[in-house]
Amino acid sequence: MRTARFTLDPAFTVGEVNPRLFGSFVEHLGRCVYTGVFEPGHPTADPEGIRGDVLDLVRELGVTTIRYPGGNFVSGYRWEDSVGPAENRPRRLDLAWRTTESNRFGLSEYIAFLRKIGPQAEPMMAVNLGTRGVAEAIQLQEYANHPSGTALSDLRAEHGDKDPFGIRLWCLGNELDGPWQTGHKTAEEYGRVAAETARAMRQIDPGVELVACGSSGQSMETFAAWEATVLKETYDFVDHISLHAYYEPHDGDVDSFLASAVDMESFIENVVATCDHVGALLKSKKKINLSFDEWNVWYMSRADAQVSALDWPEAPRLLEDSYSVTDAVVLGSLLIALLRHADRVTVACLAQLVNVIAPIMTEPGGPAWRQTTFFPFAQASRYGRGEVLDVRVDSPTYRTEKYGETDLLHATAVRGQDGTVTVFAVNRCRTGALPLEVALGGLGLTSVVEHSVLADADPGARNTLAEPGRVVPHPAEGTVLEDGRLSAVLEPLSWNVIRLA
Ligand code: AHR
Repeated sequence: MRTARFTLDPAFTVGEVNPRLFGSFVEHLGRCVYTGVFEPGHPTADPEGIRGDVLDLVRELGVTTIRYPGGNFVSGYRWEDSVGPAENRPRRLDLAWRTTESNRFGLSEYIAFLRKIGPQAEPMMAVNLGTRGVAEAIQLQEYANHPSGTALSDLRAEHGDKDPFGIRLWCLGNELDGPWQTGHKTAEEYGRVAAETARAMRQIDPGVELVACGSSGQSMETFAAWEATVLKETYDFVDHISLHAYYEPHDGDVDSFLASAVDMESFIENVVATCDHVGALLKSKKKINLSFDEWNVWYMSRADAQVSALDWPEAPRLLEDSYSVTDAVVLGSLLIALLRHADRVTVACLAQLVNVIAPIMTEPGGPAWRQTTFFPFAQASRYGRGEVLDVRVDSPTYRTEKYGETDLLHATAVRGQDGTVTVFAVNRCRTGALPLEVALGGLGLTSVVEHSVLADADPGARNTLAEPGRVVPHPAEGTVLEDGRLSAVLEPLSWNVIRLA
């Protein structure tokens, strides 16, 4: 196979990585909350019912911002049901997932969970703009953030939370372009309510950061027109527009699936173009950034049948995809796509955190374990902090049904504050190893600290309850840095992290 090459130069950069790029998402969906994050009585649970084994894995994963409480769930969310004494909280139908919500875990428990993770964990709260509107959004904001001396802030203190929650980042609804969404709207309808909600939230606190809903996917019929209309209404009041994307192989087409990041990168670039077009129309100097607040590999085609068969159970097993090595390589490539656009993608949330299309799985009353997808995320969060260097690859290609001729190599590189550089690279070739050479001019790098690989002779291998440690990253052999040139061989179908000092 021909050698893939690129050059790194400290003078050519993309932008600084915002730690919020390593966010995740906890929705009241299936077992993400109940028996996922929260399981009173579990052997590792603390007095508040948070599972200690999950907390440890969340910390190891390196998650920062955590979006909550949905997702589709938020479009029927009554925040006031989720606060106050747990025994008084009402049980409600959740229309989004045909389940019953006990409200046993609510707003205060979410904030407590984040505080237990540590200072790196930041709330990202969504308000309901499906069945509700401006009034309920500002009531929630007052309850959560106002220090004291008003009915709602004093109610929070009465509920045991004297200190305000300090939620800075807010989503103005969820996927309201989607006909499946409770309270689905046209772009004009959503743009108006989002603008008025944003304006009112800023009256309470000009320091809030707001995310307007973009399209639920690039393939939505209204894509781009939706963003343009919504942004014309909201441009002055919001900071971000959201993007959502999930990938799975269709009709067994694994080669196209491996190139999913091609779609993700074009989605990002098209949304940036649309934001800047509206900015130009409005003669604004302000730039709107991108919040890729739902992204993952999701075998979504299996989900509809699962949901429609439900008869309002509590916390059923739902969307519990088990991820293979192939899925983890695709997820790594999606992380590379996000990093390559770190100048404009300033928030991203892996959907979701536990059990529901998640990197962490649990068994009720039993253990928690890492899925294959856990590893690329944890490594990117750990080593992908700093400045993204501009990477333009010269790579052998392969043919894909969906994206035509596609590079076999997908890569990015991040330079830490200490001058170390980490190369993240995926070899999309299923059958052959890919030789790689990187010219490192001017970076002052002299040694390879580590070359870690996620690959397996069986690309379908996965971690399960029975075999939780089946797939783990392993060290690569033969990676060398000599005379300012890095040489490595990337195993077939592999995710690679090459750390240079
Ligand atoms: O993450 C699962 C679901 O996917 C979310 O609830 C929704 O926003 C999206 O369609």
